[in-house]
Amino acid sequence: MRLDRYLSNAGLASRSEIKHFFKDKRVLVNDQLVRQGKTQIDPNKDIIKVDNEVIKYKPFYYFVLNKPKGYVSANEDDKYPTIMEFFSDLNIKGLTHVGRLDKDTTGVLLITNDGKLGHFLISPKSNVKKIYSLTVDKDLDDSLVKSFKEGIILENKERCRPAKLTIINKRKAMLELTEGKYHQVKRMMRSVGYEVIDLNRDLFAFLTIKNLKPGEYYELNEEEINKLNEYLR
Ligand code: URA
Repeated sequence: MRLDRYLSNAGLASRSEIKHFFKDKRVLVNDQLVRQGKTQIDPNKDIIKVDNEVIKYKPFYYFVLNKPKGYVSANEDDKYPTIMEFFSDLNIKGLTHVGRLDKDTTGVLLITNDGKLGHFLISPKSNVKKIYSLTVDKDLDDSLVKSFKEGIILENKERCRPAKLTIINKRKAMLELTEGKYHQVKRMMRSVGYEVIDLNRDLFAFLTIKNLKPGEYYELNEEEINKLNEYLR
């Protein structure tokens, strides 16, 4: 693998900025100064240092973003700011969002460049648990709990899997799903006569926002990454 690619994959800086690292004699391979970005290295054997700090090879990156309102879940958009703007400084190739939250939805959104895992997690067979907190436009009826447990039928006659609705107060509830259809929560509520006026995703798989403020993200630790990969087994 080319050394400059290794360094840009590590999210240190852009490829053009990395060129300067070489000119400025900041890069060592096995403690030997290297001046050429095109130098081939073996990520499993060679020890790469920049400014005397070892740069570990990471094939994939995983982040949890606390998505704020007003941002679309997309890599690019002509009209609105995108959630990927929070990650633009990292220069990580292939980084994208796992599933979508609507522009006005807040909360947990997984971001990764691990395409295989990302695709699997959004497929229906992954059964990934999602928990949402929602506020609706009129008072909730207790009978809804049973309707959700039996499986809501959407406007296009599609039946949803059984879901757990927990009524918190007159207009607030929590909803636990194991699938992720397009606008699913809003469509489920609409099919029983309610408009969702506020929606937050509290949980995706086992991931939460921890103490993130809107627009902040954290990188997953090794234990969390391993736990996510268990879904693939
Ligand atoms: N369901 C919705 O309706 N919107 C979201 O953003 C997520 C789930």
